[in-house]
Amino acid sequence: LARGSAAPDLEGRHVVVSAGGTREPLDPVRFLGNRSSGKQGYALARTAAARGARVTLVAANTGLPDPAGVDVVRVGTAVQLREAVLKAAADADAVVMAAAVADFRPAAYVAGKIKKKDGQEPDPIVLVRNPDVLAEISADRARPGQVIVGFAAETDDVLANGRAKLARKGCDLLVVNEVGERKTFGAEESEAVVLGADGSETPVPYGPKEDLADTVWDLVVRRLG
Ligand code: CTP
Ligand code: CA
Repeated sequence: LARGSAAPDLEGRHVVVSAGGTREPLDPVRFLGNRSSGKQGYALARTAAARGARVTLVAANTGLPDPAGVDVVRVGTAVQLREAVLKAAADADAVVMAAAVADFRPAAYVAGKIKKKDGQEPDPIVLVRNPDVLAEISADRARPGQVIVGFAAETDDVLANGRAKLARKGCDLLVVNEVGERKTFGAEESEAVVLGADGSETPVPYGPKEDLADTVWDLVVRRLG
């Protein structure tokens, strides 16, 4: 498939994409993390750039090479990701939250490496909630008409959970992936349905993450008018 020959329907637009997975440090050498590879977010950034957008990619711990012609902001934690997304979203036409943001972080960061103590059980890890970036930017839009897209991975009752999550988050579109043992995380291909706050349902067949990305941008462009 010829890419880069896409219609420049995002020309003059600024879009923000978050990608990867946040890491919440416990001490200087350890963190709580997740398995997000960042590939879907990078595919969204690449396809938006190919369609003419100015793209800011907020990348959390991806280790992937910077896509050409994209402004990359690297972050580690959910709190850092929030700062970077809010800053970039201030003048954005669309924001796509493809990153896996940790729901919780350790309540305390231990400045020195946590050590074993002879004959003692380890201390429990106490967690606190992280900010919900998607809910926050959806509730308090930086610009009127800004289009906001979330991602959700669900294992059961995919559509019902997706609808409830879309309503809870207040975003315009929610891309719902069904995940299982070998599906989605780190895979080159994906299968999803994109739910719209207007009640629409757009299935995306199993295929390359670029195809899902292009479908997301099609739906965003339609809403930008
Ligand atoms: N998200 C976010 N900030 C968080 C958690 C999630 O911005 N603290 C965003 C993700 O980037 C994603 C969407 O919200 O676009 C849905 O994430 P998900 O983990 O499925 O939603 P949660 O509300 O955390 O629900 P769950 O309890 O199922 O994890
Ligand atoms: Ca979550």
